Amino acid sequence: MSILVTGGAGYIGSHTCIELLNAGYEIVVVDNFFNSKPEALKRITEITKKSFSFYQADLLDKTALEKVFSENNIDAVIHFAGLKAVNESIKIPLHYYHNNVTGTLILCEIMKKYNIKKLIFSSSANVYGRPKYVPVTEDSSLGPINPYGRTKLIIEEILNDLYISDHNWSISLLRYFNPIGAHESGKIGEDPNDIPNNLMPYINQVAIGKREKVNIFGKDYNTHDGTGVRDYIHVVDLAKGHLKALEMVLGTTGIDVFNLGTGVGYSVLDLIKSYENITSQKIPYGFTQRRAGDIDKCYADTTKANEKLGWKAAKNLEDMCYDSWKWQKNNPNGYRE
Ligand code: NAD
Ligand code: UFG
Repeated sequence: MSILVTGGAGYIGSHTCIELLNAGYEIVVVDNFFNSKPEALKRITEITKKSFSFYQADLLDKTALEKVFSENNIDAVIHFAGLKAVNESIKIPLHYYHNNVTGTLILCEIMKKYNIKKLIFSSSANVYGRPKYVPVTEDSSLGPINPYGRTKLIIEEILNDLYISDHNWSISLLRYFNPIGAHESGKIGEDPNDIPNNLMPYINQVAIGKREKVNIFGKDYNTHDGTGVRDYIHVVDLAKGHLKALEMVLGTTGIDVFNLGTGVGYSVLDLIKSYENITSQKIPYGFTQRRAGDIDKCYADTTKANEKLGWKAAKNLEDMCYDSWKWQKNNPNGYRE
């Protein structure tokens, strides 16, 4: 059984490749290294002791992508490749729409041509926009408030239309909440190129001494301590969710959407405290203004994934903090030498 993983050198993709290889799947990885490094692929082999095919290709390059399909007997696709920085998407929306939406259209056209109709897509909790209630269920109202989130919703809609046009497709739309943590080996993890936008990589860089303190965006949110609440999920739990979704798409046809989170919300201060406790690293912080577009709280109702996929996150906040720090400590410069 051979699975094409687009964006497999990235943060969530690399962790999922490990779980796939450990479970006995063959994988073919496609990535253009726009937001990742070849070293991540080497480490996947180091951890699993298994080799796999890799194509350095852009999804927008139809000829290059078609070569991947003509040279391999692919059974299903897990599609991670995409741009993901919310703020950047506001500055360069056309680039985001083109990369994420057009990239997915090209991928689906080629899949259709090669009669491969099993697909798992990386969507995001961002499609819920400002949730009217928490925990959010899959049928909560949708309304992303930035171009990045809209690319995800548009792709979900395209994939729904694709299924309506041809019921032989089997598609799983996975809405991730806030993935953090790293592989327990400490060999792969999140490696942001620039100043981190997201909280955990920022905390990591404070812990390692690259940044002075965490700037907490707002202290007057409607939450238990005034700081923003999110559903942080260990990236390895998230990766395992893909294997459950894969079993489902391989065995059936249809389209379905699942929240992948823990169902528990933690605040910025909860996360910092937990990180300090488990790692014994002091994390200085200060409060600044709210970040535009942030919401007070967002966490998942995971009942559907629990019941239909038989998946539940197993790792807790301490595991997430411990593994994040282990990755950072072992790789102070990420994948760079
Ligand atoms: P990432 O940036 O680490 O990985 C994405 C990978 O896709 C990168 O290796 C990048 O080089 C590659 N890529 C991007 N555009 C490409 C293209 N046109 N052709 C080929 N490769 C391309 O991001 P991640 O955190 O691993 O996220 C994976 C997916 O999950 C993304 O689609 C993202 O939008 C989605 N997601 C991420 C989060 C999160 O917080 N990390 C939350 C919700 C959803
Ligand atoms: N935060 C800070 N300081 C920072 C960074 C973040 O206080 O330096 C706060 C934010 O205000 C928020 C929380 O930490 O309350 C989490 O922020 P992140 O940027 O880590 O995550 P977001 O929830 O804003 O967004 C992330 C991804 C999105 C994805 C979403 C899914 O960036 O792409 O999770 O829920 F869609």
